[in-house]
Amino acid sequence: MRWRFKTDLTENDVTPEEVFRARRRFMAAAAGAAAVGVLAGRTAAASRSDAVLKDEPTRYEDATTYNNFYEFGTRKSDPARLAGQLTVRPWTVRIDGLVDRPLELSLDDLLKEMEIEERIYRFRCVEGWAMVVPWNGFMLRDLLRKAGVRKEARYVAFETLLRPSEMPGQKGRLLEWPYREGLRLDEAMHPLTLMATGMYGKPLPKQNGAPLRLVVPWKYGFKSIKSVVRITLTEKQPPTTWNMMAPDEYGFYANVNPNVDHPRWSQATERLLGSGLFAGSRPTRMFNGYDEVAELYRGMDLRKYF
Ligand code: MTE
Repeated sequence: MRWRFKTDLTENDVTPEEVFRARRRFMAAAAGAAAVGVLAGRTAAASRSDAVLKDEPTRYEDATTYNNFYEFGTRKSDPARLAGQLTVRPWTVRIDGLVDRPLELSLDDLLKEMEIEERIYRFRCVEGWAMVVPWNGFMLRDLLRKAGVRKEARYVAFETLLRPSEMPGQKGRLLEWPYREGLRLDEAMHPLTLMATGMYGKPLPKQNGAPLRLVVPWKYGFKSIKSVVRITLTEKQPPTTWNMMAPDEYGFYANVNPNVDHPRWSQATERLLGSGLFAGSRPTRMFNGYDEVAELYRGMDLRKYF
């Protein structure tokens, strides 16, 4: 099927660094809302109407009904249908491995301490669909600094909750559970790397990874692990779910790259999720358009480290 070219995003459509910095200061003032990890509707609306954000985010209904969350099944409609049964409170996050202070934190306590901000990010799935999502969350680096990263640490490993009684997909052996992901330490410490606790100024819907998920906007969506319960600092590159399952198809880095095709399909273009499911198709951009991360990979062969 051919997708008609309709829309394109410009640099002005998503949150540039200066804007999220300004917004961060602005949001610090909205401390009451930030304390519970959810932005008040009015605050979110105010920051979304920012003059530089011309493009409308993907419709909430689309972003919350067309999902990948294999713990709830493999069809895009399964997570919205089945994730309701997941208990997201109480929720504990463990930070361990090569840290000075291993932590076991109740999410609600953690949210009182973190600075919650809004980031409008492009999000690109390895399967070829893309969307624009206003996330609410905090920088992963702020959390890692709380635990104190030891100098031997080079990678960060993440794990999703393992609870087959509420996650029916975990009763099968489609993937090796729990879902795991990983980043190199410099990627994890990059200011664009977010731990999301909400979307569109509302608490994170369960199908989108409640109550806490990773968002790495320059990488394919499978890196953005949902419903995180454990973060471990390691010296060696950690095993990651899709890479273990099919190493020729899903690399550890998984940077969005129009020049490196998936073995079974091209990555040159992407379809924007919109009404009628896809609003249009457009060229894929290197690093999903987040040029500022290019320096992390200087000198690396991104065909080899795909
Ligand atoms: N995290 C877990 N635990 N399980 C999953 O199946 N799917 C990944 C990622 N995180 C997945 C996951 C994939 S393939 C994508 S594209 C994104 O979540 C989808 O995020 P969204 O449903 O919020 O768009």
